Amino acid sequence: MTTTEENTKRIFEIKKQLGEDMLILAHHYQRDEIIQFADAVGDSLKLAQIAEKNKRAKYIVFCGVHFMAETADILTEDWQKVLLPALDAGCPMADMADRAQAEICWDIITKEFGESIVPITYINSKAEVKAFVGLHDGTTVTSGNAKKVLSWGLGYKDRVLFLPDQNLGRNTAVELGIPVEHMALYDPHKQSLEYSCPKEDVKMILWDGFCCLHNDITTDHVEKARAAVPDAKVIVHPECRHEIVKISDGSGSTEYLIKAVKAGESGSKWVVGTESNLVERIKRENPDKSVYLLDPHSICKNMNKTNTANLLDTLEGILKGDFSKQIVVDRETAENSIKSLNTMLSLS
Ligand code: 13P
Ligand code: SF4
Repeated sequence: MTTTEENTKRIFEIKKQLGEDMLILAHHYQRDEIIQFADAVGDSLKLAQIAEKNKRAKYIVFCGVHFMAETADILTEDWQKVLLPALDAGCPMADMADRAQAEICWDIITKEFGESIVPITYINSKAEVKAFVGLHDGTTVTSGNAKKVLSWGLGYKDRVLFLPDQNLGRNTAVELGIPVEHMALYDPHKQSLEYSCPKEDVKMILWDGFCCLHNDITTDHVEKARAAVPDAKVIVHPECRHEIVKISDGSGSTEYLIKAVKAGESGSKWVVGTESNLVERIKRENPDKSVYLLDPHSICKNMNKTNTANLLDTLEGILKGDFSKQIVVDRETAENSIKSLNTMLSLS
């Protein structure tokens, strides 16, 4: 037996032993070797909703990245422990904004626009940023509810500070009919705010952050895919740049991408622009269709850090009472960030 096979066998044994005391959640970008153990697989919205509703599991093992485990810790009860098997699995996009930077930005933009702004943070953000947003009566958002949540924000105040993903902010605002010229860009390093329209027309203040993987997808990838498979539909994640979304046939969360291909006719062809583990799985689950990965470099190193070795280590730790993989958000941060998460969940 290989080490992976031994680990797999032991993980299934511990899963059986712990029963409903343990809940294993996995994001769609996880490797197949991890997906097989998951009690639920989903996009960020679905996993946050499942974590919030579960009042049975003492241990929630989050196979994903750090901000997802933090979110689960905020949404669950104090007696529920959230564990992250790969403690170094961060999200470079979430790391593009911290609370201190958000406070400086707020000073600058409220000097410019007064009290007319509500902050909205992508769920791919640090808990301290969610807390900042909660303190300013804002909300979190995910790619699965972005239109609804942004509509709420623009109904509540004249303009929205959207952080840290400028692409999701821009793409969603365009879907709601806001011209790109009415969007400002805030650079947290230069502490600069740029816009080219009259001040009163600015509806969105986009934080200059992005997901490296999705931001690296170019129009060249789309053009090459269209030339290679002319009758395919190109669908992409909204973390892609606007010029990509504009020339694609559809965009949405990982859950949307899965459903779109599943609903396609037998024999249909699809080019999917998102993380490769998911696209390979969509391919296998739709043998009657042709599915292609838009950019072969779409690999999230952090999502790939969870493996059978660190998952097994986490589970053996639970049996021994070793919770060194636990993610704990401090009380003050949790209390403020839950406001922003609850607003989002009530809108979803
Ligand atoms: P969703 O699964 O919510 O679409 O998010 C994609 C992603 O990049 C998670 O980090
Ligand atoms: Fe972060 Fe992008 Fe990886 Fe998602 S795919 S965890 S946004 S780096």
